[in-house]
Amino acid sequence: MSRPVNDRFLRACRREPVDATPVWFMRQAGRYMPEYRKLREKHTLLELCKTPELATAVTLQPMRLGVDAAILFADILLPLEPMGAPFEFAKGEGPIVHEPIATRAQIDRLRVIDPDESLPYVLAAIRLVKPELRVPLIGFAGAPFTLASYLIEGGKSVNFAKTKKLMYGEPEAFAALMGKLAEVVRRYLLAQIAAGVDAVQLFDSWVGELSPDDYRQHVQPHVAHILRDVSEPGVPVIHFGVGTSALLEPMRDAGGTVIGVDYCTSLADAWSRVGSDRALQGNMDPCALLATREVAVKHAQRVLDAAGGRPGHIFNLGHGILPETPVDHVQAVVEHVHASSAR
Ligand code: CP3
Repeated sequence: MSRPVNDRFLRACRREPVDATPVWFMRQAGRYMPEYRKLREKHTLLELCKTPELATAVTLQPMRLGVDAAILFADILLPLEPMGAPFEFAKGEGPIVHEPIATRAQIDRLRVIDPDESLPYVLAAIRLVKPELRVPLIGFAGAPFTLASYLIEGGKSVNFAKTKKLMYGEPEAFAALMGKLAEVVRRYLLAQIAAGVDAVQLFDSWVGELSPDDYRQHVQPHVAHILRDVSEPGVPVIHFGVGTSALLEPMRDAGGTVIGVDYCTSLADAWSRVGSDRALQGNMDPCALLATREVAVKHAQRVLDAAGGRPGHIFNLGHGILPETPVDHVQAVVEHVHASSAR
C-alpha cells in the first residue's frame, strides 16, 4: 500500500510525536466551497457519490486549504438503498427514506449486503483518489443507531420518538435491525480498508440522544462488534458522535483508536475521562467559523490550549462545516493550527 507523504494525521492517531498538530474538517468537501457548488449545478449529490471520477474530484477540492487528511466524498446513507430502503436527498429538506421502517417484517426483509457487489462505486473512488493524494485518506460509515434513526424516522428528526418507541417497545426487533446494520457497516469499513483507505471514521452523529444506560444496552454491543473487527487490519479508527458528553466513557469502551469530541466538552475534560491511552479529535464549534477570521482563529487557539500539546490531538470541528462558512476563515484556521502548534 502506498504511504502518504504527509503522515502527521496518522502519527497523531497513534499518539506518536508530530511536527505540528494535524487538522482536517468534517464535511470539508461541500457547499461552502465555490468549486463544489459549481459541480452541484450539473450533478445531483447521489451522482457525485456514485461516479468515482466525480467523487474523486470533490474529495480533492479541499486539499488546496492545506489540510492534513482527505475524507472520501460519499454519504453515510449510501448502504441503505442496496439494503432495500431507497431514499432521496430532497432539496432543502435533507434525506427522505421512501418507506420508513415500522414493522419487524420490514426489518426481516432488509438485505445484509456485500459491499463489493452493492457499493462498488465507493471502492472504485478510493482506488482512484489514493494515488492523487499526499495526505492520508479517511473512509467512513454511519453507525447503526444513526442509520437506524434515518430508516425509522424517514429523515431528520427532532426527538427521535419513533426510533425510541421501537427501541423501548420492541427491543428484540430493534436489536435485529441494529444487528443487520452493524454487519453491513463492519463489512463496508473492512472493504474500504481493503480498497486502500488509511483510516476510517464511524459517524454516530445522533447517538447523543441516548442516556448512558440505554447506550450500553442498545448500542454498545453492536458498535463494539464493528470496531473490534475493523481495528484488526491496523488502520486507525475514529469513533465520533454529537452531544456525547454523557457518553464518552461507554463510547470509549465500545472502541476506537481516536475518540471524536463534540464542541460542548472541553478536550482537557474529555481526556481526563477517556484516558491518555486514546487520541482525541476535535472540537471547535463550527459556528465559530462564521463570524470573523479573528474570532475563528481565537476559537482555534482555545481548542489547542485545551489539548495542551498532549500527543494524540487531531484538530477538527465538533461537527461538520456549515454551508454558509467563508472559505478564507477555514484557511486561516488551518494556517493558525499549523503555525501555533509547530514543534
Ligand atoms: O467532506 C466530507 O465530510 C465527506 C462527505 C460526507 C457527506 N456526508 C457528504 C454530504 C460525509 C462524511 C457525510 C456524512 C453524513 N451524512 C452524516 C454524518 C456526519 C454528520 O454531519 O453528522 C450524516 C448524518 C449524513 C446524512 C446527510 N447527508 C444529511 C442529514 C444530509 C442533508 C443535510 C445537509 O447538510 O443538507 C446529507 C447531504 C450531504 N452529504 C451533503 C454533503 C456534502 C450536502 C450537500 C449537497 O446537497 O450537495
